[in-house]
Amino acid sequence: MESFEGAAQSSLSGESHLAVEVAGLTKRFGRRTVLSDVSVAIPRGVGFGILGPNGAGKTTLLRTLLGLVRYSSGAMRIFGQPVPSELPALFRRIGAVVDEPGFLPHITGRQNLEMLAAARGDGASKRIDYALERAGLGANSDQKVAHYSTGMRQRLGVASCLIADPDLLILDESMNGLDPAGMQNLRTLMREHVASSRTLIFCSHLLDEVERACEMVAILDKGKVVFQGPIAQIRGQGTALVKIGCDDERRALSVLASVPCATEARFDHHEGIIVVLRAGCDPVHSAVEINRSLLGAGVAVHLIAPERPRLEDWFIELTRPGASTDSSPASSPEVRGR
Ligand SMILES: Nc1ncnc2c1ncn2[C@@H]1O[C@H](COP(=O)(O)OP(=O)(O)OP(=O)(O)O)[C@@H](O)[C@H]1O
Ligand SMILES: [Mg+2]
Repeated sequence: MESFEGAAQSSLSGESHLAVEVAGLTKRFGRRTVLSDVSVAIPRGVGFGILGPNGAGKTTLLRTLLGLVRYSSGAMRIFGQPVPSELPALFRRIGAVVDEPGFLPHITGRQNLEMLAAARGDGASKRIDYALERAGLGANSDQKVAHYSTGMRQRLGVASCLIADPDLLILDESMNGLDPAGMQNLRTLMREHVASSRTLIFCSHLLDEVERACEMVAILDKGKVVFQGPIAQIRGQGTALVKIGCDDERRALSVLASVPCATEARFDHHEGIIVVLRAGCDPVHSAVEINRSLLGAGVAVHLIAPERPRLEDWFIELTRPGASTDSSPASSPEVRGR
């Protein structure tokens, strides 16, 4: 493994601003290729989302990065150090919950953390109380894990990351099963982690949550990177809308036909009037312009809601069967999976 890893490392840029760099990673299970020439560059201090349909290879990518499964070819670095060979030294800087967090069921949540903290050393045991509180598990910490609900197990997974005080936090579907308060808590925790200039890798099907926590994403589909870049770039390419509720839809539609920022306006029985904006038009400024025109024409407006292009719409378009990625922003060289 060492000489293979050493040879492959030369394909990495080794740039110091990167927290994680993966180059040409291929992983096969038997004859099945699950990751195919995957390259991802994750800058330090950002929230980075990894998205993709079920079975795309997201968890396998994270498991490979953490040395939990062997890879077939490629190279990886975390904080400039080659992995998996340097993982023992990097271990203290990483907190990760990948897939279902696994704990010993017959002992309590706190006892599980005590075991993990003892293995970590480095003051981790002093952070157990903090981690349990911060993960919202204080009241259940002395209950056996076997009696935990799904959400409690997720919270314990997050707590197990926090005892590490990690520079790199890796969360794979950690919002699954959390109640609304738990989701809000985790959202805050992720934001604070990135705000303190540390790196977050967040893998989730909850795309609104990814938009909240992350500035950049990589989208995997069938083991390949089909997009990689800033979420702002996706928003710049997508279609923005303004939704309108008013007293006279017919009149409003005729006014909207000549509003410069609107490329199309239609009536929807559930949503009211939907105005599709011209490319590059800012939805908030457009809403002001539209509102002014409607009021000027005597239409009473009770709702006007600007909507930015959503990651979800773009994700579905990019990963639908038969989608051509050539027309997507991914085809530009700076964002395409390298
Ligand atoms: N240990 C394994 N042995 C054989 N195949 C595996 C193994 N682990 C994963 N796979 C396969 O690899 C592919 C990618 O799985 P992976 O769990 O990485 O997907 P994912 O993107 O995380 O999906 P999800 O969104 O459902 O979590 C799947 O087709 C899966 O069946
Ligand atoms: Mg997964």
